[in-house]
Amino acid sequence: MKKDVVNIGLVGCGTVGLGVAKLLQTNLPVLESKAGAKMRLLWTCDKYGKPVPPRGVQKPRFTRDWRDVVNDPHVDIVVELIGGYEPARTLVLAALKSRKHVATANKALLAKYWGEMSVAAQQSGALLYFEAAVGGGIPVIQGINEGLAANRIEKIYGILNGTTNYILGRMTEDGMDFAAALKGAQEAGFAEADPTFDIEGIDAAHKLAVLASLASGAWIRLEDVTREGISSLDVWDVHFARERLGMVTKLLGIVELGKDRFSARVHPTLIPGTHPFANVPREYNAIFVHGDAAGDVMFYGKGAGQMAASSAVVSDVIYLARQVANGTAGQIPYVTYNPAVQLKPIPFDQLQCRHYLRFTTVDRPGVLAQITRFLARQKVSISSVHQEDTESALGAAVRGGVPIVVLTHKAPEGRVREAARNIDRLAVVRRKTVHLRIEDSF
Ligand code: HSE
Repeated sequence: MKKDVVNIGLVGCGTVGLGVAKLLQTNLPVLESKAGAKMRLLWTCDKYGKPVPPRGVQKPRFTRDWRDVVNDPHVDIVVELIGGYEPARTLVLAALKSRKHVATANKALLAKYWGEMSVAAQQSGALLYFEAAVGGGIPVIQGINEGLAANRIEKIYGILNGTTNYILGRMTEDGMDFAAALKGAQEAGFAEADPTFDIEGIDAAHKLAVLASLASGAWIRLEDVTREGISSLDVWDVHFARERLGMVTKLLGIVELGKDRFSARVHPTLIPGTHPFANVPREYNAIFVHGDAAGDVMFYGKGAGQMAASSAVVSDVIYLARQVANGTAGQIPYVTYNPAVQLKPIPFDQLQCRHYLRFTTVDRPGVLAQITRFLARQKVSISSVHQEDTESALGAAVRGGVPIVVLTHKAPEGRVREAARNIDRLAVVRRKTVHLRIEDSF
């Protein structure tokens, strides 16, 4: 059934919700010409907020109860921007069940319930779009789902969290301390409601799980994404890597998809200063997708912030509205998901990469020999050793000992960890070994 007017219900009027309302109010002629239909913001809903002021033809009703939106038979598209698991999960499932199409930015929900959400959408004949869930304003979901549909996606790696990229940038380039940099990200509206999600790599893990599930057609579960955030990252290592090794520290999400196995991890990563990611500033994200036919394709843009995320949400709304107006929405599912396709996770300990190890030791003959003995025992091959003079600014900054940095050739994670565990027990070692991963063969 064709429709001249497509009705939208917006649930969640926080930073992104208000941006979506603003775009629907101020850019309406452009949006409607792209949708080929009139688009009416019928409802805005926020449990705690205020009504969105009416503007032009958009005179939405306001409610604090999302059920008013989902139960209204006139609503065609529900925009879910409340975030978190509940009531978002119940709301999305209820909307799909009543054949309302959904646009969401909720990566946490998608990562945790990918299977349930995909099946619910398939069974309802309604569509679930989620461009804003990953990469803010970057059209990476459409890019993978449609633009790269001809490819088997073998690898995705990227800077997936704007807040941590912003924090790392301000700390290293502007010398800002961690707390001040985080405050800046929060004030700019990049950070999650609970910034621990950003700092501990949880948000990036959500996004990686969504990208990997989308790209593989299987469900890559959140618990199979190994995760390490930036909270325990010492700015000393960030400076040392840049000054002495020409490497830049970024929080990366990396997934490799084999025919029946995969690996997925999020952790601070040292990359060469010449890599395109090295210059990704502030809240920007960058994502490489490697397809077997297209090779590397890079996506780049603002990964966080009100209007970048709103751009992605409203793009979804336009594409949904276009299909609703033509009476074709939901005739074919948006993503491919087959519960029978299962990929097995490769344990993190078995993954191979180069490693950065910083030991803090007493300055005495034979210390290096003691350390390298344990690396040799685990068959971890050293590619270079750097000892920072205590007279230098970098050396003096490490209290209680002398920093010795060892870079390894490619070695399995588990062996390096075992070596570090043993080294940490040595009497000459003064602090726990700092262990970072190097990716320089991207
Ligand atoms: N907190 C997220 C980030 C917002 O910093 O990237 C966008 O998902």
